[in-house]
Amino acid sequence: MAKLFSPITFKDMTLKNRIVMSPMCMYSSEKQDGKLTPFHMTHYISRAVGEVGLIILEATAVEQSGRISAQDLGIWEDEQVHGYKNLVEQIRAYGAKTGIQLAHAGRKAQDEDITFAPSPLPFNETFKIPTELTTSGIKRIVEAFGNGARRAKKAGFDMVEVHAAHGYLINQFLSPLSNHRTDAYGGNRENRFRFLSEITEIVKKEFNGPVFVRISADEYHKDGNTIDDFLFFTSKLKDMDVDLIDCSTGGIVPARINVYPGYQVKQCETIKREASIPTGAVGLITTGIQAEEILQNDRADLIFIGRSLLRNPYWAKQAADELEYPLDAPKQYTRGWR
Ligand SMILES: Cc1cc2nc3c(=O)[nH]c(=O)nc-3n(C[C@H](O)[C@H](O)[C@H](O)COP(=O)(O)O)c2cc1C
Repeated sequence: MAKLFSPITFKDMTLKNRIVMSPMCMYSSEKQDGKLTPFHMTHYISRAVGEVGLIILEATAVEQSGRISAQDLGIWEDEQVHGYKNLVEQIRAYGAKTGIQLAHAGRKAQDEDITFAPSPLPFNETFKIPTELTTSGIKRIVEAFGNGARRAKKAGFDMVEVHAAHGYLINQFLSPLSNHRTDAYGGNRENRFRFLSEITEIVKKEFNGPVFVRISADEYHKDGNTIDDFLFFTSKLKDMDVDLIDCSTGGIVPARINVYPGYQVKQCETIKREASIPTGAVGLITTGIQAEEILQNDRADLIFIGRSLLRNPYWAKQAADELEYPLDAPKQYTRGWR
């Protein structure tokens, strides 16, 4: 029995298999209103037809000034909900579950005149110097995540993922490299965790369903958070009843990353084992055999697939063939998938 094709349950969401479409920004909200376009519909629904178990929509901004680019998706106003509801219904028709990644770019918002961050430290010399967030600014953004989660619920999403990775705003608070505050949101790791903790709390309350958190579990810098710090953060998230840690790395400071097949699996495995919380592995996982090895050896609970799904919407079929698993085709495709 291929574990990749076995079901798994998180609260009221049962996935038919362990394959997750990793959140990937498409920068295609052409009118710059944060709304879905026909491209997004085709893009996401075709992965549902391709038998992906869980489709997580790309980083979606909880406030307008939190977009990475002006073409990002957004969930900062009620008007945006209708489009998501329509997409979720269509994905559901093919048996996939749907989630959305709630995000704020902070100092990495490229198209904003004024950007916000825990401290006035730019990502590098080509980025603007961000404005240090005040306590009321912090509260406003925490509320924005709560409102985003409430709208996600209204749209019918099965889960939400909090984007605390890749050097975006939450990650900027977590890391001593970008957070030099001296108030309750900076300094020791307990304080640096406070922003994520408040966001997780409000998102859980407003969404009332499965919540994943994506982190960057390696900062590739000697003064950055260590694996011990990440075990501290993820143990706290487990205590807060977060359902899964989606384990990525990097993005907080410019760094050269040595990438190779499964290059982020070791952090994922350590967090699963030491913090006793389900994890998702991501990063250059390209074959069914590789995915199966990770799952069978209890190194992760879900397999997130990014670029391979951009190359092949039917990646699940390819993986099933490698594992000699008789994956059912969508009924219209039976003659081709036999
Ligand atoms: C085009 C593109 C857009 C991405 N956008 C996001 C995003 O919105 N949120 C996120 O957490 N990661 C994003 N990522 C990272 C992917 O989710 C994934 O972690 C990464 O590509 C590694 O997995 P892979 O080797 O299977 O592609 C993006 C990656 C790509 C290639």
